[in-house]
Amino acid sequence: MRKTIIAGNWKMNKTIAESVSLVKELKKISADVRNREIIVCPAFTSLSAVAAELKSSNIKVGAQNMHFEKNGAFTGEISALMLKDIPVDYVILGHSERRHVFGEGDELINKKVKAALLNGLNSIFCVGETLKERESGKTKDVIGNQVLKGLKDVSKKDIRKVVIAYEPVWAIGTGKTAAPEQAEEAHLFIRKLLGKIFDDNTSNSVSILYGGSVKPDNIKELIAKENIDGALVGGASLDAKIFYQIIKC
Ligand code: 13P
Repeated sequence: MRKTIIAGNWKMNKTIAESVSLVKELKKISADVRNREIIVCPAFTSLSAVAAELKSSNIKVGAQNMHFEKNGAFTGEISALMLKDIPVDYVILGHSERRHVFGEGDELINKKVKAALLNGLNSIFCVGETLKERESGKTKDVIGNQVLKGLKDVSKKDIRKVVIAYEPVWAIGTGKTAAPEQAEEAHLFIRKLLGKIFDDNTSNSVSILYGGSVKPDNIKELIAKENIDGALVGGASLDAKIFYQIIKC
């Protein structure tokens, strides 16, 4: 059975006080949620305070990025070891904003995925095509390549600690969600590819989340699809009540 996961990526938003206040409210209203995993991914500055607030709750904490090295002269970076120290459970890797705004490539992302695994961190590994790539019929080539290169040398055992998020770049922060059928097509493609890389049993155990303008009014249709196992939510995760509507869908 695959886990249903609703994760909130807060991106570069919220002070420490605002983050704590959001999770205090979220913790209260979602205390009885048992059938799905809830994850919040605040900015680095809020991680410790949020993790402390969520200790022994049913909500997990994730970071939004990390460096692949353990330590060293990497000004401005944070390692997996440091994240474990907080502690956090998850780390988002290869988010489209990391790929397109900060120029992260597949090779670098692969190093991060392997470093997260080496340190016992679960990762939310993101893939997705741009509008130009979709319109020129390259969607499957692009996401196939991102999956193959990003998960290179990841073992069958370790892939169980990786959640995949399909986030079409054109749907992120645009209010333009992929149609459920469009998303399902991409998810099924990724699932089949995982089956080829690993095996069907392993592929069927990996949760694949959809991300890109997920809101309370479109989550139901998306999650109803066989291969959509949850959502990675940006803007709509910044308000506890709105995020909760998505969680309980
Ligand atoms: P939005 O939900 O704001 O479109 O962001 C999606 C996203 O990038 C989550 O990682």
